[in-house]
Amino acid sequence: MSKEVSKQRNVLRDEALYILKTNSRDNRYTVPSDRLYPYQWNWDSGFIALGIATYDFDRAVAELESLMEGQWHNGMVPHIVFHEFEEHYAPGPLDWQVPTGTTTKADVCTSGITQPPIMGSVLWRLYERCDNRDDYQHRFNQLYTQIKAYHDWFMGRRTSAPSHDLVKCLHPWESGMDNLPNWDKLVDEVPRGDTSQFRRKDLKGDNASQRPHDSDYQAYMSLVYHYRAIGYDSVDLLPQAHFKVYDLVLNSLLLRSAHDMALLAQDIKPEHGVYWQGQIQTLTQGLQKLWSEEHHAFLSDNAVDSTPLLPITCASFLPLFARAANESQAQQLADLYRDWRDVYPYSVPTTDPRSSKFEMERYWRGPIWINTNWMIAEGFKAYGFDDIAEEIRNDSRALIEQHGFYEYFTPNGAKGLGASQFSWSAALALYWLF
Ligand code: DGY
Repeated sequence: MSKEVSKQRNVLRDEALYILKTNSRDNRYTVPSDRLYPYQWNWDSGFIALGIATYDFDRAVAELESLMEGQWHNGMVPHIVFHEFEEHYAPGPLDWQVPTGTTTKADVCTSGITQPPIMGSVLWRLYERCDNRDDYQHRFNQLYTQIKAYHDWFMGRRTSAPSHDLVKCLHPWESGMDNLPNWDKLVDEVPRGDTSQFRRKDLKGDNASQRPHDSDYQAYMSLVYHYRAIGYDSVDLLPQAHFKVYDLVLNSLLLRSAHDMALLAQDIKPEHGVYWQGQIQTLTQGLQKLWSEEHHAFLSDNAVDSTPLLPITCASFLPLFARAANESQAQQLADLYRDWRDVYPYSVPTTDPRSSKFEMERYWRGPIWINTNWMIAEGFKAYGFDDIAEEIRNDSRALIEQHGFYEYFTPNGAKGLGASQFSWSAALALYWLF
């Protein structure tokens, strides 16, 4: 590495550190971005903890613990924890109205749905890099127990008879990929409630072309009000849900978490080995059902009528991260990856860049995200495609070097988009890139 490059990387490392410290609140949790997302988000905090662990291990553990303050008595970990009221984001706690007494820690407000469960994988990585495990034993045990309860909730409340082998996603926000083109038809069909009182707060400056449409938000909020009226999952929500998919993101991350929790259990709860092996087997079988021979890729499914949801997106690569693919599927995904890379010079776009649904700048419909890049690169590496993993890493690095720590980037390399000082981009840069 030339002196010039290493100097530039030092500057970027300092900047990433500055972003994480600026977005830290109370020295115990981190907001994804100061204005656009001013609360604590579930999967964001997982990626963020990985970055924080590179310079302050104790603070990284605290990141997971503060998220778990929002865990519900039934085990669910919500997608947002509203530690302090903030005026710049909607829907806030007053829109969700989760009943008092729902969370395990009293007086914590949360949203009423979940998000992709990266926590178990993060906990395992923190455990691996901890050089004074005895000092952290109690805290690791506590987090392990909470994350296992989260898995119990997924398998108990979000799967269905007879096979119970895939979890259902009940809101586009649960997939973490809000406006993926795969959801379009289902989002259109969501029965609209009265959302006239709801005001979006995510439209700032001229970012409307980079955010979901108003019609998407009407569906998102109709689902929130519908679930709120039912009582969220104090009842069996599945039969009454207005959006139901077998989503690749939730299922892949849950399976990877089961793999990583199984490794952790070998050290701290060996008697749970059978539990984790059972879950790994079940979810692997489930994900195999989402392989499409016709499209040579994994595809999320409409859980109501079992139809595969096109187009192929970056989520189609996540079963590699989960170790759910066989060798032949991994090879086909590598071929697909290379096809996509021929279209644009940076990887990995959210949506198949040859699809008519691809949109260069709009949120989860085209742009490149650093968290999915990290998981996809990890997945390819595990299957021996080191060249692809390295290319994705180089692309991610180049995008940040050219534009800064944006939330997402155009695959033609022209722009960084969304929030400009985005926490998980900074965190994964520290953990993975620089
Ligand atoms: C948002 O507000 O854009 C989030 O993606 C919802 O969790």
